[in-house]
Amino acid sequence: MVNNLTVVVLAAGGGTRMKSKTMKVLHRIGGRTMIGHVLAAARATEPERIVAVVGHQREQVEAHILTLEPNLVLAVQEEQLGTGHAVRMAAEAAGQLSGTVLVAYGDTPLLTGASLRWFVAEHEASQGAVSILSGIVDNPFGYGRVLRNAEGDVEAIVEEKDASPQQREVREINSGILAFDAEFLLAALPRIGNDNAKGEYYLTDVIAIAREDGLTVGAYPIDDVMQTEGVNDRVQLAKMGAELNRRIVERWMQEGVTVMDPATTWIDADVVLAQDVTILPGVQLLGTTVVAEDAVVGPDCTLKDCEIGAGARVVRTHGELAVIGEEANVGPFSFLRPGTLLGARGKIGGFVETKNAAIGDGAKVPHLSYVGDAEIGEGTNIGAGTIFANYDGVNKHRTTVGKHARTASNNTFVAPVTIGDGAGTGAGTVVRQDVPPGALAVSSGPQRNIEGWAQAKRAGTAQANAAEAAAAQASGERDTTHERTELGNPG
Ligand code: UD1
Ligand code: CA
Repeated sequence: MVNNLTVVVLAAGGGTRMKSKTMKVLHRIGGRTMIGHVLAAARATEPERIVAVVGHQREQVEAHILTLEPNLVLAVQEEQLGTGHAVRMAAEAAGQLSGTVLVAYGDTPLLTGASLRWFVAEHEASQGAVSILSGIVDNPFGYGRVLRNAEGDVEAIVEEKDASPQQREVREINSGILAFDAEFLLAALPRIGNDNAKGEYYLTDVIAIAREDGLTVGAYPIDDVMQTEGVNDRVQLAKMGAELNRRIVERWMQEGVTVMDPATTWIDADVVLAQDVTILPGVQLLGTTVVAEDAVVGPDCTLKDCEIGAGARVVRTHGELAVIGEEANVGPFSFLRPGTLLGARGKIGGFVETKNAAIGDGAKVPHLSYVGDAEIGEGTNIGAGTIFANYDGVNKHRTTVGKHARTASNNTFVAPVTIGDGAGTGAGTVVRQDVPPGALAVSSGPQRNIEGWAQAKRAGTAQANAAEAAAAQASGERDTTHERTELGNPG
């Protein structure tokens, strides 16, 4: 259901304290930009429209938010003349406004849709002109204070710089999130002036305007004040990132995921975990990674946009855009690059790198190999130290290995090449031509030993000396054996 609700997200301010070429609201925590978190919360209120006010470095911000929210209305605020002016730009861009207008900021990454829904419901139930999402804090410095009269009714918001010493004692602050009756807001915006300590058009002035008009104003303190906390520098960014992660990890534990060490476990906001997943220390689950039931991940994995099947085991692995089948085994020390597909009960073992590789059910690449641009059939075993040579220096080519093949150690498969079902290879084979099903490919010729080569060609080196010594010892042993033989067999 779509409400008669407009959400306005303010993101025109500079954010100079980030000291970054990246606009403040585009900095990331939990796998999303800060404004991405706010837009997700906004979307959860099921609004009729979302309006974003952009200004500073707006090309960057616009491009990003339109990918997240293609139907979003953009409002441009060329000069940052204050929050009241910003909302005026939003109202102009939105055109027809009715119902409720909710104003939020683009730099509060912990904000949830549930809190916004609760606040909008409180506002609408009050039938007031304006509602303030407030917070009770120990240190209100820097915030606008919510001023109440003796009866406890909200009278105004006064900004830090304009507040009297007595007003600064007030610990109820304006989070910045406000809800308005649209009709009242449109009438009040032109009445905001800029005769104040900052010379800005303060949106917060509409509270006093509503009271002057004898309208109802409410303030609703949020219990979880961190949800409305903004990020201004990179110290706060890290603090909020850690807090967001703590919340995400805790939520998954509540949902039935075992997390051995929450402090070293990082889970992005869009990751999905099933019940009875186990996460061991030092794991980062990033992007849109999905882990199915009973899988065990860790220790020490980074998996971005991966899909891990039920009951799979992934140890000390770095993976991106890889799909791991049920009951499969990966690691330790595996590098899964995009396009890796491992079938059920398959194995990608230690020091194996894979890319664009479909490895069938029960197929195994257990040791020290590179598998690129390849298809390996079910039940096939690839010998240790095999290189799928996919690149001829100009183009990439594919290798196909059939079902239930057995290839030996230290092979090179020079693509494009096909190894048939049930085929095999000898150790050290360089496969340049297709191997028919059931055939054994052997490419290395019979071994030839050139006796005394080191002594002749490397005389005086450690290599030659060692060979010399071994030869001498061998001939000495031959002599004593000879003597014994003579003694043992007299005559
Ligand atoms: C504002 C509130 C204050 C509240 C605090 C909460 C006003 C006058 N004050 O103060 O009561 O306690 O937030 O953090 O509203 N922005 C624009 N265009 C502008 C000015 C600001 O888009 O012209 C955006 C900023 O990018 C930012 C947000 O609005 O996301 C808040 O602006 P900021 O200047 O940080 O307001 P505060 O002084 O913190
Ligand atoms: Ca601020």
